[in-house]
Amino acid sequence: MKVNIKLDNKSTNSYLVYINELEKIELDTKVAIVTNPTVSALHVDTLLSKIKARECHVITVPDGEKYKNFETVNFILEECFTKRLDRKSILIALGGGVIGDMTGFVASIYQRGIDFIQVPTTLLAQVDASVGGKTGINNKFGKNLVGAFWQPRAVYCETNFLKTLPKREFSAGVAEIIKMAITFDKDFFQWLETNSLHVEENLQLAINKCIDIKADVVARDEREEGIRAVLNYGHTFAHVIENETKYSKYLHGEAVAIGIVMANVLASKLDLLSEEESQRITSLLKKYDLPVTYPIDSVEKFYDTFFLDKKSFNKKIKFILPHKIGNFCIKDDIKKDILLSVLGEFK
Ligand code: NAD
Ligand code: GLY
Repeated sequence: MKVNIKLDNKSTNSYLVYINELEKIELDTKVAIVTNPTVSALHVDTLLSKIKARECHVITVPDGEKYKNFETVNFILEECFTKRLDRKSILIALGGGVIGDMTGFVASIYQRGIDFIQVPTTLLAQVDASVGGKTGINNKFGKNLVGAFWQPRAVYCETNFLKTLPKREFSAGVAEIIKMAITFDKDFFQWLETNSLHVEENLQLAINKCIDIKADVVARDEREEGIRAVLNYGHTFAHVIENETKYSKYLHGEAVAIGIVMANVLASKLDLLSEEESQRITSLLKKYDLPVTYPIDSVEKFYDTFFLDKKSFNKKIKFILPHKIGNFCIKDDIKKDILLSVLGEFK
């Protein structure tokens, strides 16, 4: 199956997401695969066997969110120069969202920008991170605060790669699937409640569905000037949790799961979501062993950290909230005392 990411921005081209269609990648140029030791040991040979290029290099960086930083970006850049990649060369990201985000960012700045291809190997990256051209890294001020919109030239989602994924990582990807269902598709949410994603056929359907949703959102709003922000449901809370726990306690998808529950408490207070709907969402998250609570140490400190988020503007924080299951609303005028009372429920 192929999904077209249709873009009308004159500086970026539309591209295809190939789902289970990685036969051969033929490129009449130099190529460098960027990966990490974990993924390389499992899957780089499969990818290498599919690539036909003038030269094909492998650049290996340390594994982990804590390495999604300037130092690693600089290392990749230096490897690109050492291997004499030119402006026609192509980077291929083989890995999860961390590798994809960093490789895309390097592609956006190497010699003022070269092409890159995404080959996502985690569920989270297949259903979300690899599509849509958000690239970037973290710094001490927070997550993904430095980066660029830089669209890949193609995305190859191979569900076979997911077979080696640890259970916790699988569940982290499910959190993003649930996120998309809650905000965009009531029927999909109901289907998730009654079908297990541990069944291969169901997983395939869910991946296709999420890529379809993401394709539609990105086509309508490439640069996140409107509807694309909805994909950040749960993330305003999640980013604070990740920041407070120094990216080491929770996987990104796990932090998103907690963030979804926190956003739901807020939505319930604003009468956007019923208690029953909120419970259904929490149950679905729990079904995949996702965390649904977080002990907030200081609500004031948690609140202040909101303002480091990219979505904070003019001292206002943007919250994406579910409006019943299957619909959303965006609020940037929530009073501080309401937010503190939501956070107080997690003390
Ligand atoms: P990740 O990239 O850290 O991968 C998770 C772990 O799984 C790593 O240890 C990795 O080595 C390992 N791994 C990857 N593929 C594997 C496989 N097939 N088998 C076994 N192990 C495998 O984490 P992630 O959850 O994929 O991505 C999270 C990152 O994505 C965050 O940095 C987040 O900010 C970013 N993200 C970006 C976007 C976007 O639109 N650009 C969207 C969502 C998330
Ligand atoms: N994952 C959020 C986005 O792509 O916009």
